[in-house]
Amino acid sequence: MAKILVIGGNSGIGLATVELFKEHQHEVQSVSRSNHFDFTKKERVEEFFKQHTDFNQVVVTATTPLVIGSFRELDIADARNNFEKYWGMVHVVYYASKPKLLPR
Ligand SMILES: NC(=O)c1ccc[n+]([C@@H]2O[C@H](COP(=O)([O-])OP(=O)(O)OC[C@H]3O[C@@H](n4cnc5c(N)ncnc54)[C@H](OP(=O)(O)O)[C@@H]3O)[C@@H](O)[C@H]2O)c1
Repeated sequence: MAKILVIGGNSGIGLATVELFKEHQHEVQSVSRSNHFDFTKKERVEEFFKQHTDFNQVVVTATTPLVIGSFRELDIADARNNFEKYWGMVHVVYYASKPKLLPR
């Protein structure tokens, strides 16, 4: 049995993933915006993984709103915001793995 964290696990693909892991008897914790975990906020992610260090696996299915359109009409601020979900994933990978990396 593994202890698994699903970020974005309260709807869509994340929820289906949580249910599947539970069917296979794994211990699953799900976090998302609605329970005060915003993966775009670096400090929040850092704080979370300081307190929770014992997950065997971390799955990210969280997403942020995407504004899609023709390049001519796309606002540059919207284009920038489209990358928030990737930075969210970087925050998670960085802070989830950092405590487990061996010193050089
Ligand atoms: N659905 C598809 O057909 C499809 C196809 C290809 C790829 N994808 C990709 O698969 C991923 C999941 O898609 P989905 O359709 O399952 O999405 P979804 O149903 O919209 O679920 C998104 C999840 O992300 C959480 N979330 C949103 N903003 C967050 C934030 N800032 N911090 C933490 N959690 C946040 C939401 O939680 P709250 O409800 O609490 O806000 C929700 O649990 C996305 O990256 C999507 O682009 C989806």
